[in-house]
Amino acid sequence: MLPTNSAVKVSFSKSIPTDVNAVVAFVAQGAKAGALKELSAKERSAVGRLLAAEVVSGKAGELMFDLVDAENGKGKLRRVYVVGVGPAEKATGERVRQAAGKLARALRKHRMQRVAVTLPGLKTVDDAAAAEAIASGLLLGGFRFSEFKGAGQKKEDESALAKAIEVTIVTDASNVGKAVERGVIIANAQNYARTIASRPGNVINPPALAKVAQELAKEVGLKCRVLDEKEMKRLGMGGILAVGGGSATPPRMIVLEYRGPKSKGAAKPLLVVGKSITFDTGGISIKPADKMGEMVFDKCGGMAVLGLMCAIAKLKLPVNVVGILSSAENMPGSRAYRPGDLLTLYNGVTVEVTNTDAEGRLVLGDALSWGIETFKPSAVVDLATLTGGVVVALGTTMAGAMSNNDALMKEIQAAADVAGENIWRLPVGDDQRDQIKSHFADIINAAGRQASALTAGAFLSYFVPRDDSVPWVHLDIAGVADIDKEWLYYTKGATGWGVRTLVEWVNSKA
Ligand code: BES
Ligand code: MN
Ligand code: ZN
Repeated sequence: MLPTNSAVKVSFSKSIPTDVNAVVAFVAQGAKAGALKELSAKERSAVGRLLAAEVVSGKAGELMFDLVDAENGKGKLRRVYVVGVGPAEKATGERVRQAAGKLARALRKHRMQRVAVTLPGLKTVDDAAAAEAIASGLLLGGFRFSEFKGAGQKKEDESALAKAIEVTIVTDASNVGKAVERGVIIANAQNYARTIASRPGNVINPPALAKVAQELAKEVGLKCRVLDEKEMKRLGMGGILAVGGGSATPPRMIVLEYRGPKSKGAAKPLLVVGKSITFDTGGISIKPADKMGEMVFDKCGGMAVLGLMCAIAKLKLPVNVVGILSSAENMPGSRAYRPGDLLTLYNGVTVEVTNTDAEGRLVLGDALSWGIETFKPSAVVDLATLTGGVVVALGTTMAGAMSNNDALMKEIQAAADVAGENIWRLPVGDDQRDQIKSHFADIINAAGRQASALTAGAFLSYFVPRDDSVPWVHLDIAGVADIDKEWLYYTKGATGWGVRTLVEWVNSKA
């Protein structure tokens, strides 16, 4: 079993199980309790009371509960929750997911054990989509990284996890079972990505990450190949080797391959590349101490790739996909690379190191150029916590996207819309390509503060074919990969951002 750290389990059924200790009605603003046909008369009247009291108008994310007499003959009280999803005409899967995330927190706080959920019955979001979103929001909202909680706290968490909250989504619509299953697979894959992302630098280093990928491959049925430092040296990957040079744990290029059923053996794969710096001190150009600890999450591009590969293998999508995690630890030390060093990356482009903290683009340069040459993909997406600049530009609610191809950009935008993740397109950095020219080599790796997300994009563009023959999207996820306080269905820490967008994109290519 892959670790997911969620306190919630989700299944579905055609009627409300008799032994639940709570019943939840998802409702849109202005909804009438009478429409909730799965509920008993007493439960309906409790919902009606809550709606009539106007404390609950079904506003997005509003959550109220009441107690009604049990219907199970055991003389116990059953709790009735009303969860608002907002105005019916504005309802989206994402709003439903957010409401379900709120519910997961409440169920946990109230120590509910067995819960039944009824669907909101929306026009804009059909029952299957609503059920999928509810399953997703419950699992994501139930996530809490508790692997390192000590003694007392751990006991509490373990018993809470052992007695996972079992939620049954109740509907007699025939296509809902599959949708719930899909929501569960994708959310669990995202929670798996969050779990590995949350393990810090003393646990996850590049070889340890390779092991994780191999275990994933075995569990879900993927091919896994790991390039060690010797092989990378032979191949001429001067970027990742330089970045990993200062660390006691050597770098790894981790390759996961998925072959979909029915997909023709010859079909060109999609290539997804993730920056996987297991810890980024900045190297010799060392970062200030203040927030350095957050660089635990500098591997989150790669974590999105792990989650994607996990989900598509379980969903058995008929597509070929190659995932690459380009992994190194960026440390200072006597073997570390230095400012002024001149490097030759896999495709022969030479780089003058002007700042060892601009390491992500170096590991990506090798991964992109090698991956494109080796796998001849029909399209490439990379994800990276690449620049502080993208956080300045777009904040912490959306990722920056850069692309050499409008059609692929549209596909990714559409996938992000379906997934409920926000991206904003930025120029690919054509204007910056000249700005990063080097006096001593072809290009420099860091060019100061102005438009630093774009100079990073410009740098990466040297490692995809210049004739734009390979469609490419670069997602800078530095602002969204982790958060410092509770947001939507996320807790402080890794969000697993990108897993859902990537799955929807691959699904759209099926
Ligand atoms: N991993 C960082 C980017 C980052 C910053 C991610 C803040 C999340 C939050 C990256 O390796 C980095 O250090 N980028 C530098 C590049 C600069 C030296 C050109 C940056 O953006 O400051
Ligand atoms: Mn850095
Ligand atoms: Zn970094």
